[in-house]
Amino acid sequence: MESTHILKTGERLDVTTLGPGEGRGDTAANRELWWFIVQPFDPWTSPGENELVARALRGATDDSLHDVLIVGRIDGEIVGTVWHGTSRNTREVGGYGFVRTDPAHRGKGVAQTLTRLSVERFWADGGLVIYLGTVAPDAAHVYEKHGYRRYNGIAMRALRPGSDPETFDDDYFAHDGLAPLARNASFGDIGGYPALMLSPEPRDWRIRDFTEAIFYDPPEVQSGSCLRPFVSSMLRRETHPANRFKVLVTRRDRLVAAAGLFTATAAPLDGSATLEVLCHPAYGGEFSSFLGAVLAEGREAGVRTVRAYASGESRAAALAAVGFSTESTLSRHLQCGDRAVDVTVLRRDLA
Ligand SMILES: CC(C)(COP(=O)(O)OP(=O)(O)OC[C@H]1O[C@@H](n2cnc3c(N)ncnc32)[C@H](O)[C@@H]1OP(=O)(O)O)[C@@H](O)C(=O)NCCC(=O)NCCS
Repeated sequence: MESTHILKTGERLDVTTLGPGEGRGDTAANRELWWFIVQPFDPWTSPGENELVARALRGATDDSLHDVLIVGRIDGEIVGTVWHGTSRNTREVGGYGFVRTDPAHRGKGVAQTLTRLSVERFWADGGLVIYLGTVAPDAAHVYEKHGYRRYNGIAMRALRPGSDPETFDDDYFAHDGLAPLARNASFGDIGGYPALMLSPEPRDWRIRDFTEAIFYDPPEVQSGSCLRPFVSSMLRRETHPANRFKVLVTRRDRLVAAAGLFTATAAPLDGSATLEVLCHPAYGGEFSSFLGAVLAEGREAGVRTVRAYASGESRAAALAAVGFSTESTLSRHLQCGDRAVDVTVLRRDLA
């Protein structure tokens, strides 16, 4: 879809909105877009995120992703991009990113125009909440003008107009009374995974993603990134046939628990895996059977030893419930503000 907007400078911004599947493919135009977004000689995103951009442009993610790429041009030259992704199944939760304006055109209102178009499209598609991460004050200013608010660490989120931020998470994650379903994570979970990882609940579950150093340090979840942990887990799953990245979802496809089982690719560590787990307490009753099934899949695929990390009682207890026991303690390993706290390494042998 094409539209035209007048910038602060009076210049004309021609905007192309590419909905899911539109304009995708390994084309010269998309290679130019990838180059514009990623800036391979001056990268500002992670290698995993760059790979996601490449796949989204090629149309090579998976069918679950419902993504919208918005491109602004002045006189035919690309000057700005934004992107959001959500799930084809629900459209409720989204992730926003790849917001970049060419340095020569900054301060003209390009990012604001494209961000407005993105959020309007997200709400029109049925979105409830959309997440992003930023450290840039000008970017945060742009996002705040269009409904995003600071959430946790560097993460911001925008709630559908009329939603109450005090009750949103409780309503969203409330148990619906039906048995949740386990399935493989897919790219459409790009909003659902950050929603779970960044939720203040469970408040007594400090480690949220050990590999990505995301942890709950009251009053906030300390996140150094927002979409990156999800993208990293999706891509890490592809690095070894034994790797797993599974999610537990409600009948409305709301993601309420996740488990990633990742083994090293080097032969001396073959059979040895690290487990990352998340679970909203509303679904704590279903967590053990979900995790047990993931571990059983790992064993079938050749995993012999699994290690997981905990800090504090409740995550360690959830792991103990599926047979993990303490192997060692990393003394003062996790820096929470001005204090360092211990991390427990738990182990379970699957053989
Ligand atoms: C962040 C970025 C996308 C902004 O793009 P842009 O097209 O220049 O943004 P706009 O012109 O629409 O708006 C910029 C706004 O930030 C404001 N701003 C500039 N510097 C600021 C600062 N240090 N603190 C707060 N606001 C600031 C401007 O005043 C303007 O707001 P206003 O119109 O209300 O006055 C662009 O700087 C960029 O591409 N940066 C590098 C990539 C990046 O960091 N992307 C965001 C990652 S999350």
